[in-house]
Amino acid sequence: MKYGSEIIGVGSFVPPKVFTNFDLEKILDTTDEWIQQRTGIVERHWVDPETSNSDLGLEASLRAISNAGIDKKDIDMIIYATLTPDHEFPGTGCFLQAKLDVPEIAVLDIRQQCTGFIYALSIADKFILSGSHKNILIVGSEVHSKGLDLTPNGRNVSVLFGDGAGAVIVSRKELADPKKDSHVIATQLFADGAFAKELWIPAPGAACGKEQINHQMLEEGLQYPHMNGKTVFVHATKRMAECLVSVCKEANLNLADIDLFLFHQANLRINSKVAEMLSIPEGKVFNTIQNYGNTTAATIPLGMDDAIKAGVLKKGMLVASAAFGSGFTWGSTIFRY
Ligand code: ACO
Repeated sequence: MKYGSEIIGVGSFVPPKVFTNFDLEKILDTTDEWIQQRTGIVERHWVDPETSNSDLGLEASLRAISNAGIDKKDIDMIIYATLTPDHEFPGTGCFLQAKLDVPEIAVLDIRQQCTGFIYALSIADKFILSGSHKNILIVGSEVHSKGLDLTPNGRNVSVLFGDGAGAVIVSRKELADPKKDSHVIATQLFADGAFAKELWIPAPGAACGKEQINHQMLEEGLQYPHMNGKTVFVHATKRMAECLVSVCKEANLNLADIDLFLFHQANLRINSKVAEMLSIPEGKVFNTIQNYGNTTAATIPLGMDDAIKAGVLKKGMLVASAAFGSGFTWGSTIFRY
């Protein structure tokens, strides 16, 4: 009997507080027009000071578990993808595990930024196919709002990011008909660390000298994300298009066979460009960046949940996802939902 990994539950959560482009206009030298034209973003959600990353992850996880119709005690692994952890260590997955009250199972944090969800799905698929695990909870969660440079220096980055979480339950399934049954068909992962400093947070860190961080570094804003936007844009479009074509080839499918494209949500213009490069009809691309901004590791599961609720993603559909982000990292997947 052939086994596969099926996504059996999806959930998401965004904090209630909405921060619009007009709200940003009041604190930054920016305009709604600039943000919408360059990125497509209209608003994003930002947490209250008391809310942590694992709080968002918990809400999304509970919804995914309920949607899957399983008992939380059936989960045998958590993979937590984030670049905005609760604390430097231990990983945020451990904080979620305690809040979820699922002791003793394996917990893995990964730090592949915007590509985090695709990496997590690929890792989960491999653990399931090995036969060692049966029900894996994947969480992508971010609290960006507490780490943005809201001085004029940071306006090119700070307008982009939002807070939110998405989660899925991936479960082992016996495949009676691999061509028709819901499962992860292929995943592909890539990185090129030569570009690590094109999109990064320089400090604190063990590479930052004796003190890891000092007053001068703080005054220079090295604790905030720094991005070479144009370089990221050019590489994102090229790499996302490339890895969509290659994952289709691995899955023995054509792009035209795909029913729905769930791309990472960094910029509406990146997604339009990728669709244009591959002649993908815009109507097959489901975007959510307008409402959430870039929630990094959360964008794909969050978009999946919204697509299901909107009736756009239905059981049995062929879905392709691709993401690109800091690292540089990128990756793609095709699954039958
Ligand atoms: N409001 C108003 N003006 C602004 C803002 C702002 N928020 N930010 C920058 N500007 C100004 C700049 O100062 C510049 O002014 P100048 O022409 O007088 O010098 C002008 O707008 C153009 O700036 P650019 O940076 O050249 O703008 P660009 O067209 O490249 O768009 C953007 C910027 C939207 C960031 C784009 O480069 C982009 O989307 N890049 C990719 C982002 C991305 O994908 N990130 C990856 C995901 S994040 C992750 O992995 C963690």
